[in-house]
Amino acid sequence: MKKIKVQICSGTTCFVMGGSELLLLPDILPDEMKDSVEIEAINCMDKCRNCGEEKSPFVIVNGKSLEKVTLNSLFETVQKIYQGI
Ligand code: FES
Repeated sequence: MKKIKVQICSGTTCFVMGGSELLLLPDILPDEMKDSVEIEAINCMDKCRNCGEEKSPFVIVNGKSLEKVTLNSLFETVQKIYQGI
């Protein structure tokens, strides 16, 4: 199975708008999912400027940009992809 690629923006705006919590994703992944998910912290993508700070934090999952992401919503997104939903 191809790994699910999760790129978490860790630029200042996203970080203070909740992105810091998103970096805890590896801690809440069930053991069976850990090897299937590749998590990377990335620099500001300028979405905070172009799309509005209120839509932060931004995350890209398998190339798809998500906004106002919470740890819970990120986990659900990754879990759905893992389960093939
Ligand atoms: S800090 Fe995340 S898009 Fe700018």
